[in-house]
Amino acid sequence: MLTFDDEISSTTHPSHTASASTHQRVNAADKRIINAKTDVNQLVPFKYKWAWEKYLATCANHWMPQEVNMTRDIALWKDPNGLTDDERRIVKRNLGFFTTADSLAANNIVLGTYRHITAPECRQFLLRQAFEEAIHTHAYQYIVESIGLDEGEIFNAYNEIPSIRHKDEFLIPFIEAIMDPNFHTGTPETDQTLLKSLIVFACLMEGLFFYVGFTQILALGRQNKMVGAAEQYQYILRDESMHCNFGIDLINQLKLENPHLWTAEFKEEINALFRKAVDLEYAYAEDTMPRGVLGMNASMFKGYLRYIANRRATQIGLEELFPGEENPFPWMSEMIDLKKERNFFETRVIEYQTGGALSWD
Ligand SMILES: [Fe+2]
Ligand SMILES: [Fe+2]
Repeated sequence: MLTFDDEISSTTHPSHTASASTHQRVNAADKRIINAKTDVNQLVPFKYKWAWEKYLATCANHWMPQEVNMTRDIALWKDPNGLTDDERRIVKRNLGFFTTADSLAANNIVLGTYRHITAPECRQFLLRQAFEEAIHTHAYQYIVESIGLDEGEIFNAYNEIPSIRHKDEFLIPFIEAIMDPNFHTGTPETDQTLLKSLIVFACLMEGLFFYVGFTQILALGRQNKMVGAAEQYQYILRDESMHCNFGIDLINQLKLENPHLWTAEFKEEINALFRKAVDLEYAYAEDTMPRGVLGMNASMFKGYLRYIANRRATQIGLEELFPGEENPFPWMSEMIDLKKERNFFETRVIEYQTGGALSWD
């Protein structure tokens, strides 16, 4: 039978086309992560319940940067003896990376990934994720503004600081490949390009490139320094860990539906990307910590990054790249399990409105 998707011109991709003219009701069993023939506008019947459940979980974790009291950070930053030069360097480098990183992540979702994913449950999660990336950019900007950093210096760090620029230069080709309006999935080569981009974002950007920075700011918080910033980062870490887990589920489901993409050659290419990402993040660790600081040093991060890379690799069905690495920062695992009502750093959460009260008369 000829479907609407067969009839449309080759320049129009079914994934962002409403196929209402088929007059066929959606059968959940026909849904696919990519290259589906089913109507992407019909959320139900559900097939990918894990995606819907993660969407609900991210909504339950909603937070806003203004909830976090920044007054102690402001006082500490202004006090000439409040922080050491090495601690200040960590804060500035961190914000230099993150103020633009989450914009890259948002671009990747909105302009890239979203239009290629044909499972509406997953699209729903991606829409929520895109908003969370906006909240994260807002949070980083809020910290920059609160402590009065030079905005030009921080927001241009991704052009001006080599250890940050090199990470972004690694990522950008994987965003641009799937953002290209002429890029469409539907062949083994283009499907592999999309899969590679999903792996780079979930496992290497959100799952690895964020971890030196998160660990550093949370280590400051554990020493009762920059507690407002640390609390913002804790909420962000919780969100990112959900993004990373969703991305891994998406990758594994895509693999399950398209086993022909997971070739030995492709796996080798992914392994090489993992190794490159570990090197880049380690270079960033060295640049941000030229000396030991807060009981940490760059070489501890070599082990940590290898430990995380192993975990990400096995989560998507690859062998460990660095067998036997152990986690030098076990306290980081507890940070991910934050309950919003538990106020770890004891800053005061101010009341904010999650939605206007409706009045019907
Ligand atoms: Fe983010
Ligand atoms: Fe994210």
